[in-house]
Amino acid sequence: MRFPESFIQEVVDRTDIEELVSRYVTLKRSGSNLVACCPFHSEKTPSFTVTPAKKMFFCFGCHAGGSVITFVQKAENLDFPEAVEFLANRAGLPLPKESDVKEEHGVPRRRILDANLEAAKFFRACLFDEELGREARDYLFNKRGLSEATIKHFGLGFAPNQFHMLLDYMHGKGFRDEELVAACLAGQKNGRTYDYFRNRVIFPIIDPAGQVVAFGGRVMDDSKPKYLNSSDTAAFKKSRQLFALNFAKNCSSERMILCEGYLDVIALHQAGFESAVATLGTAITPEHARIFSKYTQQVVISYDADEAGQNAAEKAMRILGDVGMEVRVLKVPDAKDPDEFIRKYGADRFRSILEESKTGFEHKADRIFSKYDLSLTSDRIRATSEICAVIADYPSAVEREIYLSDVSKRLGLPTDVLKNSVEQIRRKRARDYKATESREAQATLKNFRDTVNPEAAQHLHAAAAEEAVLGLLLLYSEYRTIVERGEIALDSTCFLTEFHRRVFEAVMELHRSEYGFRFEFLDERFTPEEVGRIKRLEVERSKLTNNGLEVFRSAVNALKNSKEKETAAEEDLTARIERLRSKKQEKQHKEG
Ligand code: CTP
Ligand code: MN
Repeated sequence: MRFPESFIQEVVDRTDIEELVSRYVTLKRSGSNLVACCPFHSEKTPSFTVTPAKKMFFCFGCHAGGSVITFVQKAENLDFPEAVEFLANRAGLPLPKESDVKEEHGVPRRRILDANLEAAKFFRACLFDEELGREARDYLFNKRGLSEATIKHFGLGFAPNQFHMLLDYMHGKGFRDEELVAACLAGQKNGRTYDYFRNRVIFPIIDPAGQVVAFGGRVMDDSKPKYLNSSDTAAFKKSRQLFALNFAKNCSSERMILCEGYLDVIALHQAGFESAVATLGTAITPEHARIFSKYTQQVVISYDADEAGQNAAEKAMRILGDVGMEVRVLKVPDAKDPDEFIRKYGADRFRSILEESKTGFEHKADRIFSKYDLSLTSDRIRATSEICAVIADYPSAVEREIYLSDVSKRLGLPTDVLKNSVEQIRRKRARDYKATESREAQATLKNFRDTVNPEAAQHLHAAAAEEAVLGLLLLYSEYRTIVERGEIALDSTCFLTEFHRRVFEAVMELHRSEYGFRFEFLDERFTPEEVGRIKRLEVERSKLTNNGLEVFRSAVNALKNSKEKETAAEEDLTARIERLRSKKQEKQHKEG
């Protein structure tokens, strides 16, 4: 079966690469990457690298590499659809039905937004309908403690427990089935169309421009799945959207609060904290982090208090830190999430714990200290080594100094002792890093027998030029756009080796498609070995410092020149054969 791109994207978004890979090997942090001994070949020093920010892996030893899907294909020996299914199951995502797999081609974004707005009005009318909305109103008012003003502010609604109610309404407004399916308001099965959201309270997702781009629908009891969400459409990309950003963006340039759930955000807004936002059921992405940096200086992460929430908070901390945000963490005491905290203790208590929210370091240190009983020597030793490893992560000597004096008090150990230990860790990391670098250098020496691209051996120059061009196209969407617009003339006939030609065609085709290019979309079209090679093209290119437009331009020229040369050489050969043949004929002629 062929999965729609939106589904593959969702599966990848919902998969935590660190957690996935950890089931097979023990990962160690090394800068913004994680390293381990490669699960795909035998080695003693780790050259297998995971980049969580990109959700990619690459082994500098055996050149296996790619997305979480490639990883599962190799680790579990599955083909592409099986690997997608494997990950979907882990993430608790139902597989799309064969009939849902139709792509939303041809329905313009504007039309989807219009349909969403109309649907939002419908859901809202249902919520406030005396009969239809009774149970939902009871749920929102009484069970969740929301006021009528809050419900209206967020445009909440209700989807009745019927199969054709929204459809009939929307038909009356002039929308066709295909358009409703494209907007993810309707599903299709055995040729029949039905309402996608049924018997759920509805949370419209509104973008900063004020347009309804998607919906989330929650059950009113404990049944599963708890939420149903619009999948990505032409008007909506989940990984770039934050719930309630349309309100939060106006209210705080100093600080925003990041929660996990829609209902946390709504409870916070109702209590006066209008800078609260949430991702849409996915882990925070670097795209989200960049959005935050556009609107605010500081993000306070207030995730669920359980282990899963706190682990997710640490990851969010890193991703936000990577774009230079000031990050704090607020773990609510004696409640499972901010929503419950506010309902139990009120807005004032929340305000005071918000003021006391911890810096990233304080939070990490607290988590370590709370695991151990510091009156036991063995525990103290373990806590000390864990905390030193955390401090060693900070590049700033001043910061390290501050944290050291902090924890020396808590551990009852002299600062000097701790400092020695931290510096030792840093020296060891620097040595490991150098070793990895030289291994990388060796790994770039090309393999002799190239099974992925056997033609490369016959066309060395052309293949090298092709690699440069593809590396740049994989790394930078700007170059893909330039090629697409024909600003630099490059098409598949420029490629001599068949493998590279296929890569070029796939990359450009994906770039032009509705979802754009994402590395994991290559998994469907290439074998894991081929994906590893494509990853390597990208990784090797990214190690070079100058990848500017002039470099791209000259790589394309080099590619065209080498193709001309090769063709010229071929022509030479044909001409020679031709000459020999006519000579031979002449000779025969004479002899005859
Ligand atoms: N989510 C989802 N699909 C699920 C479960 C959760 O999309 N099956 C997303 C929703 O965006 C949800 C968020 O993850 O808001 C957090 O999940 P959860 O804490 O379970 O839901 P809450 O909205 O906080 O609801 P409640 O307070 O009732 O638990
Ligand atoms: Mn929750």
